[in-house]
Formats: sequence, structure tokens, C-alpha cells
Amino acid sequence: MIPPPAPIRLLDLAAEHAALQPALDDAVRAVLAEAAFIQGPAVGQFAAELGAYLGGAHVVPCANGTDALTLALLSLDLPAGAEVVVPAFTYVATLEAAALLGLRPVLADVLPGTFNLDPAAAAAACTPRTGAVIAVHLFGQCADLDALGALAARRGLALIEDNAQALGATFQLSNGDTAPAGTVGAVGTTSFFPSKNLGALGDGGALLTRDPARADLLHRLANHGQTQKYHHQRIGLNSRLDTLQAALLRVKLRHLPANTAARQAVAARYDGALANVPGLAVPARDPRSSHVFHQYTITLESPGRRDALREHLRQHGVPSMVYYPLPAHQQPAYAYLGYRPGQFPVAERLCETVLSLPMHPLLTAGQADQVVGAVRAFFGK
Ligand SMILES: Cc1ncc(COP(=O)(O)O)c(C=O)c1O
Repeated sequence: MIPPPAPIRLLDLAAEHAALQPALDDAVRAVLAEAAFIQGPAVGQFAAELGAYLGGAHVVPCANGTDALTLALLSLDLPAGAEVVVPAFTYVATLEAAALLGLRPVLADVLPGTFNLDPAAAAAACTPRTGAVIAVHLFGQCADLDALGALAARRGLALIEDNAQALGATFQLSNGDTAPAGTVGAVGTTSFFPSKNLGALGDGGALLTRDPARADLLHRLANHGQTQKYHHQRIGLNSRLDTLQAALLRVKLRHLPANTAARQAVAARYDGALANVPGLAVPARDPRSSHVFHQYTITLESPGRRDALREHLRQHGVPSMVYYPLPAHQQPAYAYLGYRPGQFPVAERLCETVLSLPMHPLLTAGQADQVVGAVRAFFGK
């Protein structure tokens, strides 16, 4: 009897981890034997290995990607009420960190093709109170680091890169350098949430910087602001990456380049079959950035078509997801910022028309073909 085809999943962590089981088991056993569960040796080893992967950047591990953003902002010493420009189309953590520190998130619209912060909109959102701009490398592709870097330099602002979704991507700067995402601005942040391209088996995050003094400050801030045990120079956070997660991440980091290539192969297959389907746009590429495809996100021509396609795919055994259904300024928690509907038309339109297709390193060519077959059938192709 022919076995039934494997179900298509948005991501397949169980299968990814099954393939690594012996190495993950060894890592857990070693941490249990050593019993240094906080700040054990694996934390520093992982930081060094990730730093090497990122071209020699300093890596400061912390508890999650949201804390990484909070710590990045804390390290800037902005005055209370200072403004932080953030994209209107992002995961809420980007705003949350600023809001919790008593800073004011100021939204700027994104570009309709790449979904990333529009540098002209970011410039227009700046005021004399602006202290920082957060560029989010959404879905795995870098925001315009040249233009945003130039804006930050011109106005004396700090550029923070929220690199939760684009670890391993690179950007070709106008000075000729090819820089790893997260290492261009004053501080980069990332998340090891399990579904991320480099995911822990729980929460985790890190800060990235090329500045050793800032790395040192971030280390201290992530550890109650202490310079030595029981001596606290700054108000900090208890935000450390568990030794166990660091040990597991060391195993998974070794597979990140191959997993990225596998994601890119799936994306190429999707592109090949979907690029010329009228009524659907495949994700636009900025030729200066590589794309590590945390998500492969298509855009439909209307909200009705998006929702109908999603239902059609569901009926054909193809899961899909909407990242994100509501723009930042329409979230009730951020109503106090006083934005009106219609103020960020690109972000609003994207929330109504984007759809992310299954994307993970173990998606087979056959499964990718099944996905695009179902999409094309919806369009009568
Ligand atoms: C763009 C972005 N920023 C920040 C975060 C926050 O990371 P975490 O969930 O590890 O706190 C995430 C992911 O969840 C994210 O996608």
C-alpha cells in the first residue's frame, strides 16, 4: 500500500528536532551533569559561535527578543518621553519595548513591496524629540540600511535593527561592504523563539553590536545592571539566556546555513510557479539584501480574495497564516498614541491582503509543488 502523503505544515519543528535528536540529547545531558543552569559555559560558547557567524559581531544573549529590544533602548539612555520611530507593520514587540520604558513609539509607514520601513516616511516622522529609529527586517529581508543609516547619522539618532526574523541575511552597503543583518546599526536584536530561523526549545534572544563598550554595557544591563555580584550601577533586567537553551542553540546554529539554503530553495520554487499569476504578487526583493525567508508572504489584490484563497488552501490541506492582521496603530493597547484609521495606508492594506505560505527547511519539493498547485488552481491556472 502507498503511504498517505506527509501533511504540509507551516513549520515542522518536531521533524527538524528529530533529525538532530542525538546531538540535542547530548547537549541536555551535558548541561544536567554540569548543573550550571544560569550563565553556564554554553552561554559564552554560543555567543562566540554566533558572533563568528555574524562576521565578528559581539553577541550578548538575553531571555527573549522583546527583552533584547528593551535592553537596546535602555543602553541608549534616552530621556523620558523621547520618541522612537518604528514601522507601522511589525510584530507588536517592536513598539512594546519602547512604550514600557516610557518612550513614545512614533509610527512610520512601510514600503508596499518589501514590507519594510519606508525611509522617507521614517524621516518625515522624526522630530527634535526623536532618539532612535528601529528598522525591522521583516520576514527575512533587510530594511534599507543605507537610507536608514544615513537618516540616523544625519539626525544624530541611534539605529536599532530588530533582526528577530532575518538572522543570517546580509545587506550590500553603498560603501561596498556586505554586512550581516543586525550588525550595521548601533545595536541589533534577535529572537530565538522556537519558530524563528534559529529557534531555541523555549524563549531566547540576543543583542548584536560591533562596539565592545556597548556590548559590555548590554551584558551588565541584562544582568540587573551589575558590575560585580551585588553591586548595581544601573537599573537593569533579569534577562539571561538559560544555559540549557544556549547548549541546544549551539547544536541548531551549526545547521542554520543549510536550513537557510533550504528555505531559499522553497522560495525559488514558489517564485517560479507564482511570479506570473495575475492577481497575486510574490514577495519583492531588494537586490542589496539577501532574503532568509522566515516567511514567504504573497500579496493579493483585495481582502476578499485573500480570505477566499486562505479558505481554498485550507480545503486542499495547505495551511497559511496572516502576519499581521492588525497594524500597530489599530491595536487597542496603542490607541493612546492617537493615530487615526487611514493614517498608514500601506500597513493597513498589507494587513488585509498578505498571506504567508508554508515555509520551513524540511518542506520537500513535492510539497512546495502541492502548495503552488493549490494556489494556481484558485486562480484557474
Ligand atoms: C519582528 C519581531 N520583533 C520582536 C520579536 C520578539 O521576540 P520574542 O518573542 O523572542 O520576545 C519577534 C518575535 O516574536 C519579532 O518577530
